[in-house]
Amino acid sequence: MKTAALNRRHFLKNTGSLVAGLALSSTLPTRADAQQRDPGRGTSSAEPIRLGSNENNYGPSPLAIMAVMQNTKRMLRYPHTECDRLLTAIAAKEGVTKENLFLGTGSADVLEGLADWIGAKKGEVVTSAFTFNFFATAAKRRGATLIEVPLTADLFNDIDTMAAKITPATTCVYLVNPNNPTGTLLPAAKLRATVIEMARKCPVVVDEAYLEYADDFTGSTLVGLVKEGHNVIVTRTFSKIYALAGERLGYGVMPAAVAKEAFGAYPLQNGFRANMLGVLAATASLGDTGFVEETRVKLKTERDKFCALLGKLGRKFAPPQGNFVFFHVGMPAKDFSQKMRAENIVINAGYPQMPDWARLTIGTPEEMVVASAAVEKILTA
Ligand SMILES: Cc1ncc(COP(=O)(O)O)c(C=O)c1O
Repeated sequence: MKTAALNRRHFLKNTGSLVAGLALSSTLPTRADAQQRDPGRGTSSAEPIRLGSNENNYGPSPLAIMAVMQNTKRMLRYPHTECDRLLTAIAAKEGVTKENLFLGTGSADVLEGLADWIGAKKGEVVTSAFTFNFFATAAKRRGATLIEVPLTADLFNDIDTMAAKITPATTCVYLVNPNNPTGTLLPAAKLRATVIEMARKCPVVVDEAYLEYADDFTGSTLVGLVKEGHNVIVTRTFSKIYALAGERLGYGVMPAAVAKEAFGAYPLQNGFRANMLGVLAATASLGDTGFVEETRVKLKTERDKFCALLGKLGRKFAPPQGNFVFFHVGMPAKDFSQKMRAENIVINAGYPQMPDWARLTIGTPEEMVVASAAVEKILTA
């Protein structure tokens, strides 16, 4: 009892100053409000530095944090109205209508729904042999046959070969751009032209989870193809640049007919899949106009420094356009990963296709000082 009371007091003491003066209202805070009351987002030094899951360690928009803090009492409500407001904001951002959208519990949820729809057709799914495999695995479980196309020698998705693999049996192409784990981004004009050709024959799912980190988001996004009426579905997430991975929200932009066929597209469904605080955080993030660009620039600065280190160490790496770098470690990557873990850093390694390459998520400047020193120590030992 005593401990519980103490903990509660401690909690109130620490959060009291933050919440004090903020009315529990549904209105979203301004950026100035939030910056004055930065709730902090650091981890204790005893915790490992987490560079393994492509999260955004710079943290969410202060507006998102404040939206959550101000609205905790509203977690008792179903978020139907709030979901609808978020969908309106997404529709405005993407330049589509709500009928073109499906909101999921993370973009993985949207991919799973699409995989259900595609997999049930029992045909062939053309995908990369080395990519984020959630969609393909789910489609296979539902009965699809996977046609997996190896990457090019320089670690790009081989879209020419993927296009050539389309037959009357193909039910879908799935493409991740920038690709995970390599981080490579396809040249925009070539991608656009190839996807238009592919989409004449079957739906093309383009997973743009990391595209906000790329140098040219506007030139590279294929949402424009959805608007032009092509059979293209683009998935996006609030888990990556928006740093809301724990809130589990993502969405798909697709032809209205696909939304209807694949998801039923009844508005209540969105309200039942999402959570109140996540939805409010996501809506607030979209209202923070400078946030994405600021985060992209900060991340790129650290990514460039890390690539310069790899260059100095004579290590090969794939040209990165996401918030991570895929590089050659010259030893079983599992061993490299364990050595990094001994330095209190978690990374991602152990890709069977490329067993001596590892993927490191770019962290904050402070984290990258520690991580870069560890990488240099291990790779020069
Ligand atoms: C390429 C890609 N797509 C989709 C996802 C799923 O993310 P979420 O479900 O958090 O939106 C991930 C997660 O790492 C990913 O790397």
